[in-house]
Amino acid sequence: MSSPAVERPAPAMDLSSLERPTAALPTVSARSLRVQYGEQTALSSVDLDVYPGEVVALLGHSGSGKSTLMKTLTGIAPFTADKLEVAGREVAKQNPAGLRELRSDVGYVFQHFNLVPRLTALTNVLTGGLHDAGPLNLLGTFSRAQRTTALELLDRVGLAHKAKQPCRSLSGGEQQRVAIARALMQRPRLILADEPVASLDPRLAGNILGLLRSIAREEQIPVIVSLHVVGLARRYADRVLGLHSGELVYAGPASDLSEKEVHQIYGTDTELLEN
Ligand SMILES: Nc1ncnc2c1ncn2[C@@H]1O[C@H](COP(=O)(O)OP(=O)(O)OP(=O)(O)O)[C@@H](O)[C@H]1O
Ligand SMILES: [Mg+2]
Repeated sequence: MSSPAVERPAPAMDLSSLERPTAALPTVSARSLRVQYGEQTALSSVDLDVYPGEVVALLGHSGSGKSTLMKTLTGIAPFTADKLEVAGREVAKQNPAGLRELRSDVGYVFQHFNLVPRLTALTNVLTGGLHDAGPLNLLGTFSRAQRTTALELLDRVGLAHKAKQPCRSLSGGEQQRVAIARALMQRPRLILADEPVASLDPRLAGNILGLLRSIAREEQIPVIVSLHVVGLARRYADRVLGLHSGELVYAGPASDLSEKEVHQIYGTDTELLEN
């Protein structure tokens, strides 16, 4: 005789095994992003999602649309899109004040550094915080807290000891580090680096890209970086977007970028692009 069924409360279900870390939202999300300059299509129906923590390299020959793609993200280039969201904002819907806010969320790093040569490294970094500054600060005074942050950032890029040196006396690699610290001073949610290593020798190029990658990983700030050297994209990027005449012809892991894809992106004569 079977014992009467004892009604027991169902054991509390252990949900921990089902829980996954909440998937991060993309910092950049674009669908059918397109830029037309007169007759010329500079960008043709690009889809992309960029997530916190990753480095995405843009590859493509000169004129393929790399800078144009970056410029759309802060509303600098005129675009049409089914969707373009950057740092939680729909770019097309921003009024001038909204665009200013969006731009203050995006740090830019350029090929030629764009520092003020006669100002010290520290002051150049401090200018990155001017988006937050009140009118008094625009007259040239920075708070103690801002100075401390700027010094910490110079330390982050390995240049605290050069804080008082005018930027014109720094090497190219050092200037690019100052420029990166200046971008970080904005507390950006995204970093756009347009050919940041094109003026540097190969050793320094790796150095700067390594720094950008560690910033992406450690601060969870995604970095979109345009490069002309395929080998650097393979070594330092997580993903590659390959543009050819404004069209996205490759989008995938940097490690999957085979000779075939490189050929698709650049056409013929790809030998010089490896190193
Ligand atoms: N303001 C503009 N007015 C008209 N055409 C433009 C403008 N900006 C860019 N273009 C054109 O759009 C195309 C893409 O230019 P873009 O600067 O994005 O190329 P890129 O991939 O960054 O090239 P590079 O490697 O030389 O920097 C080019 O043909 C360029 O001439
Ligand atoms: Mg360019």
